[in-house]
Amino acid sequence: MHKSKITGLGFEVPENVVKNADLEEIMETSDEWIQTRSGIKERRWATEDLATSDLAISASKKAMEMAGVSSEDIDLVIVGTLSSDYFFPGVSAQLQDKLNLRNIAAFDIKAACSAFVYCLSVGDQFIRSGMAKTALIVGAETQTKLIDKTTRGRDIAVLFGDGAGAAIIQTSDDDSGILSTHLHCQGKDMKNLWMEGPGSAPGVWIHNKQAIAHGRLSPKMNGREVFRNAVKRFPEVIQEAMDENGLTMEDIKLIIPHQANNRISQAVAKRMGIGMDRLYSNIHKYGNTTAASIPIALTEAHQEGKIQKGDHIILAAFGAGYTWASAAIRW
Ligand code: ACO
Repeated sequence: MHKSKITGLGFEVPENVVKNADLEEIMETSDEWIQTRSGIKERRWATEDLATSDLAISASKKAMEMAGVSSEDIDLVIVGTLSSDYFFPGVSAQLQDKLNLRNIAAFDIKAACSAFVYCLSVGDQFIRSGMAKTALIVGAETQTKLIDKTTRGRDIAVLFGDGAGAAIIQTSDDDSGILSTHLHCQGKDMKNLWMEGPGSAPGVWIHNKQAIAHGRLSPKMNGREVFRNAVKRFPEVIQEAMDENGLTMEDIKLIIPHQANNRISQAVAKRMGIGMDRLYSNIHKYGNTTAASIPIALTEAHQEGKIQKGDHIILAAFGAGYTWASAAIRW
């Protein structure tokens, strides 16, 4: 059984930069409130003419170019998103078409902020089992189209941004690659971070117009509960990745956490007894881009030369569901 390795990376973000000062113009908030509680200075918000698939296509092309693979080579597409262009089918079907891929398997995974690691894990299993040799794994969102951008929705609106990140994974022929992945879910807490509609639940699907009036078609979050759970689950799932592979924190060059909130990363670093320099952060530029945040951060960390051949890194995620996940990688 051959594990998979990441051979290409790429990301794309909308051109439209929204600074904290811009948010002060449209809702009751302040640069000081946002920065002290999240570390975010600015984020990218998709304009009306830009869809999730546009960002996903661009990020995918960059990852394919880095890996040196053509459309013909790809035999699996998995996209993590909670803001697909249409209610169905998923963005993966659009990628199959727009990237001129063969009629290969293509599907979406809706695991919110953990979706990229979930997708990577599934792609890795396909490659380990011999079902696929070259997979395109994407995390992409234009979720800010769904959020309430008034004072009523400010707890969420200030945190989120849009973007896409992509990775090509291929059969590894040496000791580098994805060593292990760990996926978890605890559905009983789902209502602490969720968006009710459009959905099939009674009163949501049938009464969509009423639901809009009651703000039920925008994400809702119990910020304190999310914070409390995130700072518990991140260290757990990072430790799980190290234990599985007989690694200690000294062996880990860099942790790429889901960019949820800088305060969450600070609390995680403190709990794990490590400096913030061990956790990559670019949240000040992009905010929380949900499924896109890990592949964007991984691509930037790689471009900045922070990951070299032979390094051990850990991807770690926590988000709605709750879901949480990690991947241990030898570069
Ligand atoms: N600007 C100004 N005031 C705000 C804003 C805002 N954008 N949002 C909320 N407030 C107000 C609230 O209405 C409340 O006012 P009140 O006291 O008059 O009722 C007050 O600020 C709450 O302030 P704090 O008690 O300081 O809030 P807290 O310290 O809990 O911080 C936050 C809120 C930032 C949401 C925090 O709970 C948090 O970081 N939670 C984690 C959530 C997160 O990061 N989610 C990311 C998505 S999930 C994921 O990706 C894992």
